[in-house]
Amino acid sequence: MSKIYLTTAIPYVNGAPHIGHAMDYLIADTFARYQKERGNEVRFQVGTDEHGNKNYKKAEKLGIPIQQFADENSAKFKEFIKKLGVEYTDFIRTTDKDHERRCQEIWKRLGDHIYRDSYEGWYCEGCERFVTQKEYDENGGTCPDHNKPYDKLKEDNYYLRISDFKGEIKRAIEDGAMQILPEFRAREVLRLLEDSPDVSISRPAEHLPWGVPVPDDDSQVMYVWVDALANYITVLGYPEKDISDYWPATAQFVGKDILRFHAIIWPAILLSCGLPLPKTICSHGFILANGQKMSKSIGNVVDPIEVLDSKGLSAFRYYFLRHADSFADSDFTWEKYNSAYNNELANDLGNLVQRLANLCKKQDLPGRDYQPKRDSEYETIMDSFYFSRAFDYIWDKVQGLNREIDNKKPWELAKDADRHTELVMILEEMADELLQIAYLLKPFLPDVSEAISATFANEKILPPTTPLFPKDK
Ligand code: MSP
Repeated sequence: MSKIYLTTAIPYVNGAPHIGHAMDYLIADTFARYQKERGNEVRFQVGTDEHGNKNYKKAEKLGIPIQQFADENSAKFKEFIKKLGVEYTDFIRTTDKDHERRCQEIWKRLGDHIYRDSYEGWYCEGCERFVTQKEYDENGGTCPDHNKPYDKLKEDNYYLRISDFKGEIKRAIEDGAMQILPEFRAREVLRLLEDSPDVSISRPAEHLPWGVPVPDDDSQVMYVWVDALANYITVLGYPEKDISDYWPATAQFVGKDILRFHAIIWPAILLSCGLPLPKTICSHGFILANGQKMSKSIGNVVDPIEVLDSKGLSAFRYYFLRHADSFADSDFTWEKYNSAYNNELANDLGNLVQRLANLCKKQDLPGRDYQPKRDSEYETIMDSFYFSRAFDYIWDKVQGLNREIDNKKPWELAKDADRHTELVMILEEMADELLQIAYLLKPFLPDVSEAISATFANEKILPPTTPLFPKDK
């Protein structure tokens, strides 16, 4: 048994969860369940990122006290994560007092790698990121992700000397000690790293009072990304506790937009603290709505609760784990969602369960005592974090079993009393195949997997009283 530590990005609390936020949780939860199925012990962090400009300004705009605003939205994320059926172990808020105190301890460990300087340049509030002149010029002064002009900043900050760590980070990426997925993003990161200047890691409190105070300097608060990244270890109790059972993390799940923070600033902080780098950083693509980036101004933001409520959790998990490619951008439309539900979940799988269980029931077959088999092809895909592909692999088996039923026509055999033994054998084999599919499905769709087992592995094989995926939903 190994100890596994998985982390997810902690969202800002400047609004309610949207559909894109589901990706980190679903992917991490699937991997967590897969690891638990193999007998490993999993620690799994989630949480909310509550400091910084973005949250502060939004609360100000709405006229809500910032802590109250953070409390309300953090609670919405907690509720959302619960609704997704995510089996996390730790929920961290960056306004937790323990977190703040531990961040200050981490800051002290940055030691000689910090220096003071003045910053005159650009900042994107949407990204919470200092922007170089080169990027400013390339983007014509407007952030392409947030469609907002960059802010001009002129202030005194503390800086972290990234140049002290470039060589080590580069080596770790190149030799795979810190694996970055997908691979083409690793190459992107290496290019960014080469050009990466030292980064500013604080903001003057007079410009932004909402942050963790820099130790021994009340005039500065920590840059929100320093405080946010630190969550991955403060949640484990660093530095008071020995975290070596869980750190380095087995995998850190993040969206493509924030990979750069995780692959450059975060390793620099860890190395300053003398801590090892995470084993894998897995970055997923974006969920688009009707082919476009979701944005409040376009008015195409999809409410995940509406999607969840329309066809239930298993349909939600199915769509975003199979039809959202684990690494590339993917589209959500209601049309695609409904079609995946009707044609794949209801027809391919729901009907299969119903059909096979009915055929078995007619022969009064007892439930199967089936021991699932480990499947090396499936495990290789899961171990490469390509979950949407692993799901395709399972679906091939679902479709294969449908074809097998169509070809072997057990209902024909049932008409011939002399072929009863043959019929029973075929049905038993198929029931076992479906139980094997249920086993492979377990990390993705735990409820569906359970329902299949209840149908085929109880005392008698009996079809579910209501279909798994009713058509009229
Ligand atoms: N607060 C930072 C993360 C700090 S982690 C130490 C942040 N928050 S966020 O709310 O903007 O994003 C949270 C997660 O959701 C990130 O992994 C981000 O990539 C992901 N997504 C945000 N919009 C998304 C889509 N439209 N699609 C898929 N994932 C998206 O960044």
